[in-house]
Amino acid sequence: MEKRTELYRGKAKTVFTTDNPDLLILQFRNDTSAFDGEIIEQLDRKGIINNKFNHFIMSKLEQAGIATQLEELLADDEALVKKLDMIPVECVVRNRAAGSLVRRLGVEEGLVFESPTFEFFLKNDALHDPMVNEYHIQAFGWATQEQIARMKELSFQVNDVLKALFDQAGLLLVDFKLEFGVDSAGNIVLGDEFSPDGCRLWDKQTNQKMDKDRFRQGLGGVVEAYEEVAARLGVTL
Ligand code: TMP
Repeated sequence: MEKRTELYRGKAKTVFTTDNPDLLILQFRNDTSAFDGEIIEQLDRKGIINNKFNHFIMSKLEQAGIATQLEELLADDEALVKKLDMIPVECVVRNRAAGSLVRRLGVEEGLVFESPTFEFFLKNDALHDPMVNEYHIQAFGWATQEQIARMKELSFQVNDVLKALFDQAGLLLVDFKLEFGVDSAGNIVLGDEFSPDGCRLWDKQTNQKMDKDRFRQGLGGVVEAYEEVAARLGVTL
């Protein structure tokens, strides 16, 4: 599959068109950003780790009956994906309090909820990804009520599958972010990536952070933590 032209360069991935108008290539770069791109650093091997990690997770989700954008691994840092019309919102599911929820609601980090929460954020770095609700999403035409309901349903299904998967690897899935798109048949399909860049994972025994919070909080050992998570899950790097 020959790479054609660069379609879009995000903060951590570049999207290329291919000969096939229905397929795109995602290239996972080493760039690691925090605070809406305010801080960007190159972390050696991160692109390869996230590409392979994402392939592993998306395959598990496919096996559980959740449609994803992923087609196949193309190279160490590249994956072939179905072209989707991406919905410009981030879907965040949380099982415990961390990050922006702690700041917003003034609760203690690690608080276990009675049931998982769900939040939508608008993908907009300049506005710092503001939280939006279902009325905003419909009012601005980003998605229909049906598509919103489907994104929520699929996000909770992903939570059920991945909570169990990480639990077996001795990890707590604290929260995560998903992005969805619409395929040529009009179905809502999971797109973008699932990697330690977009979720929070804590060691079950020690509560040690094993995700991008190590970068955001300057804790060091970022790539080493991602490699440890991959090893525990049995991801071949
Ligand atoms: P938050 O606590 O900062 O709102 O983040 C919730 C989850 O979403 C966390 O696992 C990190 C992830 N996330 C992203 O992947 N990209 C983003 O731009 C933001 C703000 C959060």
